[in-house]
Amino acid sequence: MAVLKYRGQGKDQSFVTLATNDSYVKGALVLGSSLQHYRTTRKLTVLITPQVSDLMRKVLERVFDEVILVNILDSGDSAHLALMRRPELGITLTKLHCWELTQYSKCIFMDADTMVLSNIDELFEREELSAAPDPGWPDCFNSGVFVYRPSIETYNQLLQLATEKGSFDGADQGLLNTFFSSWATTDMSKHLPFIYNLSSTSVYSYLPAFKAFGANTKVVHFLGSTKPWNYTYDSRTKSLKGEMHDSKIVHPEFLNMWWDTYMANILPLLEEYGIIKENTTAVNTAEVTEAVSHMSVSAAAPPPPSPPAPVLPALSSLERKQRWEQGQADYMGLDSFDNIKKKLDTYLQ
Ligand code: UDP
Ligand code: GLC
Ligand code: MN
Repeated sequence: MAVLKYRGQGKDQSFVTLATNDSYVKGALVLGSSLQHYRTTRKLTVLITPQVSDLMRKVLERVFDEVILVNILDSGDSAHLALMRRPELGITLTKLHCWELTQYSKCIFMDADTMVLSNIDELFEREELSAAPDPGWPDCFNSGVFVYRPSIETYNQLLQLATEKGSFDGADQGLLNTFFSSWATTDMSKHLPFIYNLSSTSVYSYLPAFKAFGANTKVVHFLGSTKPWNYTYDSRTKSLKGEMHDSKIVHPEFLNMWWDTYMANILPLLEEYGIIKENTTAVNTAEVTEAVSHMSVSAAAPPPPSPPAPVLPALSSLERKQRWEQGQADYMGLDSFDNIKKKLDTYLQ
């Protein structure tokens, strides 16, 4: 068995995540596996919705102590979601179900697109609602990692707020920031250090800070529309391939860590359940992984060859600047880490 459950104390407390479909399940599995790797003593719980396939549920049961079926809560608030350019996120209100887990005294919710890089059990010493600042608007907390206390009363109040007032971003983060509005101004102990929810895109928005403090990162959050499982990974060269033209590519080191965990701990489980065909001899592991990434999870046929990387038209420096300001830097090309470093060095000199 690739992933071993570690049982210890603190069992009335749990890490909690959410997956409403088989793609996000891959993220949840990597997160769960990373928590186990760093020997958490707390339980692991995943909330799923009926769209998650039966086989994937079985795999989740191998990694998580509890796999709990909940119904989808959706804001259906397309106007507000459009402002965020993420219409699919209305469904994240399903996250609110985490307050119903009253079998636990305290929990830490973590998005399925996060993974831990060390043990973070010390977060259970914090109180509701503790969270790290959102990189886009630091007076709001980011709802990808937060400490909370399950309570049916809170759950009902949140649903009531969602129904009566809606959410300013059409999704859970807007609602939770309205509900826990004193977070920004009252109690610093509820401000988690940024290293507990380091958005992989922040690496580029404040590179010197990342260079100074990035090594202390405890939780990486692959925030944004392109998730680790949307990329393909060449296990021989340990590098990403395909879709490299995606301008929102995250820091490759973190992405590689996600893929290393996936390859070592999750792929063998998917093979064991026949979700991915084992030993498709002509197909190397990377291509099998590509099948996982891009096809339905029951994909058994060899995947099609990757399309050649598209040749992008050269951008004027003004266009480049505009793209950069819109958060669409060409991280693998002109705006690569090396080039940014060279530029910074010229300023420093
Ligand atoms: N989520 C999900 N299915 C979806 C979208 C989101 O299960 O279709 C869950 C998942 O746990 C995810 C969280 O909601 O991590 C928040 O969404 P996401 O991480 O995509 O938002 P971001 O952090 O990129 O803003
Ligand atoms: C944020 C958070 C995510 C949340 C989304 C919608 O970007 O990272 O957890 O679901 O906003 O509110
Ligand atoms: Mn997220």
